[in-house]
Amino acid sequence: MKALVYHGPGQKSWEDVADAAIQEPTDVVVRVDTTTICGTDLHILQGDVAAVTDGRILGHEAVGTITAVGDAIKGFAVGDRVLVPAITKCGRCEYCQRGMPSHCQTVGGIGWIFGHLIDGTQAELVRVPYADTSLYAVPDGVSNEQAIFLADSLPTGYEVGVLAGGVRPGNTVAVVGSGAVGLSAILTTGLWGASKIIAIDSNKFRLEKAYEFGATDTVEVGPNAVSDVLGLTDGLGVDVAIEAVGYPETLLTAARLVRPGGTIANIGVHGAPVTLPMEELWIQNITLTMGLVDTVSIPTLLKMVASGRIPAELMGTHTFTFDQIDDAYDVFKNAAANLALKVIITP
Ligand SMILES: NC(=O)c1ccc[n+]([C@@H]2O[C@H](COP(=O)([O-])OP(=O)(O)OC[C@H]3O[C@@H](n4cnc5c(N)ncnc54)[C@H](O)[C@@H]3O)[C@@H](O)[C@H]2O)c1
Ligand SMILES: [Zn+2]
Ligand SMILES: [Zn+2]
Repeated sequence: MKALVYHGPGQKSWEDVADAAIQEPTDVVVRVDTTTICGTDLHILQGDVAAVTDGRILGHEAVGTITAVGDAIKGFAVGDRVLVPAITKCGRCEYCQRGMPSHCQTVGGIGWIFGHLIDGTQAELVRVPYADTSLYAVPDGVSNEQAIFLADSLPTGYEVGVLAGGVRPGNTVAVVGSGAVGLSAILTTGLWGASKIIAIDSNKFRLEKAYEFGATDTVEVGPNAVSDVLGLTDGLGVDVAIEAVGYPETLLTAARLVRPGGTIANIGVHGAPVTLPMEELWIQNITLTMGLVDTVSIPTLLKMVASGRIPAELMGTHTFTFDQIDDAYDVFKNAAANLALKVIITP
């Protein structure tokens, strides 16, 4: 088969490798019909993720068709159309049983294993461990081009942003960062009846997009951003400030936007320490949440996509075939200049 193989910082190639095959009775093999690229893949290519070593097949999102099943598989059969999520779960360990498979102990202590600890989904075939407890059947009414965004971005915005932030009817919500993850939070915040959803970004194209995803207001990053948001919320600030960038200054912005009693929901992956003004925050009864996505909201999100409540297809702006995967990376890497959100890659 062909696959996108990592060969150290800055190096990758679409090349011939051994076909993915069943290794354990709990495995299945999936033919990848649709995959995409995540910002994390760009971090890996910069050499930021030490656990990813030379020879690893990249990618942790896929929709595909099962081509082989291990002897222990009960819930799936050859020919089934399935979503391969970013998180793999055994279903049995302490964290899986607690509904926190992001820290599944059985698959390596962390639920994110594809394109990280084992070979990933940017390939013609992928081996899926613990398939019975990890895969999701894709309902007929949901296309591959919609389902692919439920592998990572949509559950991340929803679980780590909207659910962790505790958005409730009537709430005002600010989302700092309108990339795929911030837009996913915006798209799903409306499900909880937020009265005002303010998108904040430095990228004008993404702010325009944010309206399509359900934002009621947009604010461009700049010296007046915080006062603009206060002006939109009767001077009080928002009930929930969602951080979807991952820089110290964006978390600090979120902290300045939240009103007393509110919640800061941090989604961003941080690479540097952040100093928070605890001397101001403590007396405002602020809650701060953070975490790695569990993807346990996928069944809910699949239903909402099938019923038309979540137009997941809005996320895909560019389409490529596998042999154009280098172009797909180039477009995604320069997403702002290319007016891109997420790319769709198919055979
Ligand atoms: N917690 C998790 O489980 C999890 C899962 C997936 C992704 N993430 C993280 O979520 C974050 C967002 O991911 P993404 O794929 O949407 O990234 P992205 O790069 O596509 O989007 C980030 C957005 O932030 C904007 N931005 C940059 N600087 C800004 C600033 N100072 N103020 C406001 N906006 C600014 C950019 O213009 C861009 O639109 C990343 O840190 C990513 O690693 C976390
Ligand atoms: Zn990802
Ligand atoms: Zn587990």
